[in-house]
Amino acid sequence: MNPESRARIEAWLQYFDDLKISSFYLDRLAVTAMPARTPAEKPAAKPDGVSSAKTPSRNFSSPAQSAPLAAALPVVKSASLFESSARIENDTLQRIREDIGDCKRCKLCEQRTNIVFGSGSGKAELVFVGEGPGHDEDVQGLPFVGRAGKLLTQMIEAMGLRRDDVYICNVVKCRPPQNRAPEPDEVGTCSPFLFRQLAVIRPKAIVCLGATAFQSLMGSKMSISKLRGQWMDFRGAPMLATYHPAYLLRNPNAKGDVWEDLKKVMAHLGLKPPARR
Ligand code: URA
Repeated sequence: MNPESRARIEAWLQYFDDLKISSFYLDRLAVTAMPARTPAEKPAAKPDGVSSAKTPSRNFSSPAQSAPLAAALPVVKSASLFESSARIENDTLQRIREDIGDCKRCKLCEQRTNIVFGSGSGKAELVFVGEGPGHDEDVQGLPFVGRAGKLLTQMIEAMGLRRDDVYICNVVKCRPPQNRAPEPDEVGTCSPFLFRQLAVIRPKAIVCLGATAFQSLMGSKMSISKLRGQWMDFRGAPMLATYHPAYLLRNPNAKGDVWEDLKKVMAHLGLKPPARR
């Protein structure tokens, strides 16, 4: 199929997904497997992960969408068209940050110290999505810098990567009081910014840390314990959920499960674990 027709059909299928009638098109991944993105299409990153380069398209397409993997991915319905602001022309991380501004869109603004936008490489092949900032993140304005963050850093390094190689962000960008889970209205208000971040970065893989991230991306109350470690599709990007590092601090026995999940991500990215010293 020529690339123009493919792009047109993909746009239509995304539209059907957005309208939640994608069950008529369950084989869409096989139809829409896209060719690999060339390095030239990738935006140049600034050290803070905020890119000034223009990206050619908001749709995800990655080498990961090769036929064998695509066939293994369950098709999960996309977020509704009305939630989605992921298709802004020439979007950049910097523009998203500017659009967030000194946000007062939801009640989480009342007690926050800093908005925690995200950190890492705007060209990352791997994005970790957490729930929302805790105390340390709120104070420093950076994601995953507290105890759970230190464990996440260890997990990233165990994969043979550095924090700067990946991008780390959260579903909500302001700390929920007493570290409670973000409420649906807060997720609904903030997640369009996350979707835009993901659309700009277009990673080869998204790892959801915990149920809030997973359910926010999937748009439904799916069980993380049942579905963790399975590849799914988030708007054309391979996505896998695993347990949150804070859960691992309370349940160290689950670390083995998480490592199994991360090994799948490594295999997908072509990474080998660093040699044991
Ligand atoms: N937990 C999260 O989900 N995100 C953070 O940034 C820190 C802790």
